[in-house]
Amino acid sequence: MALFDNFSLIGLKKGGFLMDEERIVNPQIEDQVEEKLENSLRPRTLDEYIGQEKVKENMKIYIESAKKRGEPLDHVLLYGPPGLGKTTLSNIIANEMDSNIKITSGPAIEKPGDLASILTNLSEFDILFIDEIHRLSKSVEEILYPALEDYSLDIVIGKGPTAKSIRLDLPKFTLVGATTRAGALTTPLRDRFGIIHRLELYNTEELTTIIRRSSQILNVSIEEEAAREIARRSRGTPRIANRLLKRVRDYATVLGDGDITLKLAKHALNQLEIDELGLDEIDRKLLDTMIVQYGGRAVGIETLAVSVGEEIDTIEDVYEPYLIQIGFIARTLRGRKALPAAYRHLGYEIPEEIES
Ligand code: ADE
Repeated sequence: MALFDNFSLIGLKKGGFLMDEERIVNPQIEDQVEEKLENSLRPRTLDEYIGQEKVKENMKIYIESAKKRGEPLDHVLLYGPPGLGKTTLSNIIANEMDSNIKITSGPAIEKPGDLASILTNLSEFDILFIDEIHRLSKSVEEILYPALEDYSLDIVIGKGPTAKSIRLDLPKFTLVGATTRAGALTTPLRDRFGIIHRLELYNTEELTTIIRRSSQILNVSIEEEAAREIARRSRGTPRIANRLLKRVRDYATVLGDGDITLKLAKHALNQLEIDELGLDEIDRKLLDTMIVQYGGRAVGIETLAVSVGEEIDTIEDVYEPYLIQIGFIARTLRGRKALPAAYRHLGYEIPEEIES
């Protein structure tokens, strides 16, 4: 297995490197090599899974109850920022239910027929994981309603006045839907999930534990304070933590004896231009726009998107949750505003009118 992993790594052109223009702290970005790394680090059981205590506690009960009754688990919707472990959790759910998992995504299911084919190929108690479920088209979504509600598939045969509708029974399955934006789901779709959980950003303690666990799997020795330093700069996101760990390991391999010390971790993270709070150039540009260009007034999301050259969705899904969590920005009715903590961090004087 390890040999095969190595072979694939060598065979990939892009290597383990993200392209220059891609952000190391953008959890949306994944390449094939990184996916392999992530897979090897993924916990397989709820007990191995670190953090998201409330979700774990609840899921344990629902899973045990479903198993005791010999029924499939209710449909599950997981939402929250990218990189927090929605896919990992889905795999764990399948594992804990002793079920198989089929993985697809909203944009990959183009036509109603695509979904019909996926559904009719499921087996009893299978888990169907649909990532980015908010991107399903209306016509595909409509096929999903009866499938979720009573495991049936309505298909229309023929066209015009002679068209006939027939109803097929589907195996009892569980849909696990994942989305970064629960608000983008239509109400009828959202209403068909019996279990809805929001994944939260991780705290430094949890990320430190994840980094220690990952180092062990990667067979790298790491100082406790180094793990904590990487954790602090990972924006509450395990995917970023594991990515930074891998980069720091590169520095440790080349500049040291392979062990990750605090000094080496700090040096590597500074070289990567990730500051003490995990902010990078784009975060700083966003904050600068609010503070310098707009003098601390509320700024519309469209304006921010233009000033940093990113999509509105990316700003909302990727950058904002962390900046809000650390108390750097606030969402107001008239737009986004920088808060005193952001002024302090960037070394700007705090204007009287916003000081609180
Ligand atoms: N690796 C990535 N996310 C993790 C988590 N929540 N627990 C353990 N290991 C992880």
